[in-house]
Amino acid sequence: MKLNDELKALLNAQVNMEIEAAYQYKAMSAYFEGRELEGFAKWMDAQVQEELGHSKKFYDYLLKREGKIEYFELNKPKADFSSVKEVFEVALAHEQKVTASIENIYKVARNLGDFGVENFLDFFIEEQEEEEETVKKIIDKITLLNVDNKNVELYLLDKEMGERK
Ligand SMILES: [Fe+2]
Repeated sequence: MKLNDELKALLNAQVNMEIEAAYQYKAMSAYFEGRELEGFAKWMDAQVQEELGHSKKFYDYLLKREGKIEYFELNKPKADFSSVKEVFEVALAHEQKVTASIENIYKVARNLGDFGVENFLDFFIEEQEEEEETVKKIIDKITLLNVDNKNVELYLLDKEMGERK
C-alpha cells in the first residue's frame, strides 16, 4: 500500500520529535553534570540513546515506505531547572507530548486503513506507556525521599540512578 501524504508528513515529524527528545535529555544530562550528580547524568544519557534509537526506527520505516526524510530546526531545550524534581516533571510532560503525537499518527493510520503503520506503531504505544510509568515512579521517589532538600537522600538516589544499564 502506498503511504499516504499526511502519514508521510506525520512520520517525518516524528523522526524530528524523537531527536528533539534526545536533545532535551542531553540538556538535562548537562544540568546534572553541572551539579556533580553523575548517576542522574548517566541515566539521562541512556535516555538520549533511546530517543536516537526511536528516531532511527521512524527514519527506517519512513524510507522503507518510500517516504522522504526532512530535518527541521531544533527548538532550544530547557536547560535551567530549579530542582531535581522539576527536571523529571519536564521529562514527563515531554513524554506525554510524544505519546499524544504517536497516538495521533495511530488514529490517522486507522482512519486510512494503513495496517502497516498501525503495526509499526504498536511498539511505540507500549514504549510510551513504559516511559511515562518509569518517569512517574522516579518522581514519586524524589518526592518520597525529599531529595531536593536532603543531601544524603540525593546522594543515594543519584547512586541508584547511575546503576541503570
Ligand atoms: Fe521516544
